[in-house]
Amino acid sequence: MVAFPLPPGSTIGILGGGQLGRMLALAAAKLGLKTHIYCPEAGSPAFDVAADFTCAAYEDAEALSRFAASVDVVTYEFENVPGQTAAILGAAVAVAPAASILAITQDRLTEKRFIEAQGIPVPAFANVESLDDLHAAMALLGTPCVLKTRTMGYDGKGQAKIMSPAEAEAAWHAIGRKPAIAEAFVPFSAEVSVIVARGRDGQTAVFDIPLNEHRNHILHRSSVPSGLSEATEKAAREIGQKLAQSFDYVGVMAVELFVVGDRLLVNEIAPRVHNSGHWTESACMSSQFEQHIRAVAGWPLAATERFADVEMTNLIGAELEDWAKLAAEPGAALHLYGKAEARQGRKMGHVNRLKQR
Ligand SMILES: Nc1ncnc2c1ncn2[C@@H]1O[C@H](COP(=O)(O)OP(=O)(O)O)[C@@H](O)[C@H]1O
Ligand SMILES: [Mg+2]
Repeated sequence: MVAFPLPPGSTIGILGGGQLGRMLALAAAKLGLKTHIYCPEAGSPAFDVAADFTCAAYEDAEALSRFAASVDVVTYEFENVPGQTAAILGAAVAVAPAASILAITQDRLTEKRFIEAQGIPVPAFANVESLDDLHAAMALLGTPCVLKTRTMGYDGKGQAKIMSPAEAEAAWHAIGRKPAIAEAFVPFSAEVSVIVARGRDGQTAVFDIPLNEHRNHILHRSSVPSGLSEATEKAAREIGQKLAQSFDYVGVMAVELFVVGDRLLVNEIAPRVHNSGHWTESACMSSQFEQHIRAVAGWPLAATERFADVEMTNLIGAELEDWAKLAAEPGAALHLYGKAEARQGRKMGHVNRLKQR
């Protein structure tokens, strides 16, 4: 195994070739580090900006071994890395964040139990493996409530809101009768997130807290400052740091939070860089992507200081068509992901708008 810090010229392997992998590769290049992207989809956005790529299945043990042998450390841009893939890589090369953290955060039930065990509040929840379980959960949680598949959910997929007990059966079918959790519906006043980096030396660095607004269950806008009180922001930062410590985390992770009055409840953890942190690229000393690369390469973390107020807006699907107008807009930093097809609901790019403080 290699020694950290990795010197410039070293290669970071990244599993996943979407926009997050692409932005990680760009940040690595800025520090003189090479990247090798591993992704099963031909034409993945990150392939364009990396020194090397492997286009192979996550189950392809031989391709994984070759990949592991060609890099100095492996990280990921998504949390649903199959356990077997992480195990094959972990046997051959340093992997960060650790595979055990992926295993916990891939499953909404183990994730919520882990968070609760750290003494951090989450919405009331119950394990649901059958329609009977769902009825029992609803007796406990009341309605409305939200049924979510334990694994593989994203952008609101694999979820159903249940307004009354009469809707339980339809919801159970809608999510495909898969192992799930039911959560009490949280009447939140806002959604925010914490983007926290933790280095190999255990140091942490936290960015300012963004306020997140969703449209059709997809992040639409993140604004900083969040407008929350200083005390609430401090509490949010502490939750991020505490979770990063308790995972012995290396890299950047995001914690999505519901704000209810002056209370914070953790919605979910993303063990990776996060869409609600894209503004850091334009408004801070260092981006979330640079922090992640620094952490996995064993470098010291950079300052997270923010020097402008900022609003990040996602460009979803056909919104990409506005690119020329956005490119001409003063004060707007445009970032496009180079995806060939602007399918509905697909994240095509984002724009960071800086505001005078
Ligand atoms: N228990 C809940 N109460 C109220 N709204 C919720 C609840 N759970 C999820 N939501 C809403 O749905 C969105 C997506 O849910 P989330 O659990 O974050 O799944 P995903 O993995 O799809 O991001 C949240 O950002 C929030 O707006
Ligand atoms: Mg979410």
